[in-house]
Amino acid sequence: MVKNAGGNKLNKIAISGKGGVGKTTLSALLAHIYAEKARPKEQEVIAIDADPAGGLAQALGFPPDLQAQVTPISEMEDLIFERTGARPGEYGGFFKLNPRVDDIPERFSVSHRGIRFLRLGTIDIGGSGCICPESALLKALVTHLLLYRDEMMILDMEAGVEHLGRATAQAVDVLLVIIEPGRRSLTTAARVKKLANDLGIQHVYAVGNKVRGESDWVFMKEESSVPTLGYLSANQELMDADIRGTGVFDTAPTAVEEARSIARALGDWVVG
Ligand SMILES: Nc1ncnc2c1ncn2[C@@H]1O[C@H](COP(=O)(O)OP(=O)(O)OP(=O)(O)O)[C@@H](O)[C@H]1O
Ligand SMILES: [Mg+2]
Repeated sequence: MVKNAGGNKLNKIAISGKGGVGKTTLSALLAHIYAEKARPKEQEVIAIDADPAGGLAQALGFPPDLQAQVTPISEMEDLIFERTGARPGEYGGFFKLNPRVDDIPERFSVSHRGIRFLRLGTIDIGGSGCICPESALLKALVTHLLLYRDEMMILDMEAGVEHLGRATAQAVDVLLVIIEPGRRSLTTAARVKKLANDLGIQHVYAVGNKVRGESDWVFMKEESSVPTLGYLSANQELMDADIRGTGVFDTAPTAVEEARSIARALGDWVVG
């Protein structure tokens, strides 16, 4: 079995890219694809919504009542107080920097069709930003999930990786940066890759999205300085899924097949 330096399986995938590029869509597709693989082994995939704006639970097709049960960890004031000794917004006071978090994934997540879903909320885990109780809790939680949980994990992030601390970033096995047909997204991807490498993420790949035909894909493959793994075509089914608020895995079969190719391209060394 393939393992990283810490002895863990290589199975922690983070997904980034500029706003609206398709991070949540690809995260949801890959989570279901890996959940299918994990099912015979009676394992789950952990899908983490690390984007303050949310949206992953819907793209995953979680039933509304389950979605409603999930509160972002960053908004759980009592939990933050219980674990760190301080309340969100209390700056300058004392609080624990390594609070207990090992029970949080089970207690505050919901599970559906082999996917355990956890929503972090507004997140600043170790970057230069705020030093406050909620970020201490989130940082400890994400580092715990990445380092000590064995499951395949998909992390749907915001645009960049600058909010990841070095310890957290180094535990990410692969970063997928989504690009779309256009030079601006290629520039963003190159910048994200450099930052990710600087933080210690070794494997960074680009995934094309909203590809309208062969020439778009050729453009991306030839012009991207970040190695490309595969792509999702521009697809009415995905737009319809978002309009109807349904999960992408069940409503966009073409995208599912394309995402399977992306998973296969990763498969040489990612253990699902
Ligand atoms: N291949 C595609 N074809 C058509 N529409 C797509 C495609 N991929 C994503 N979309 C649509 O584009 C919109 C943005 O996608 P998505 O939410 O996955 O992006 P995001 O990067 O997570 O955005 P945000 O930065 O807001 O979190 C959604 O309405 C989605 O349905
Ligand atoms: Mg998103």
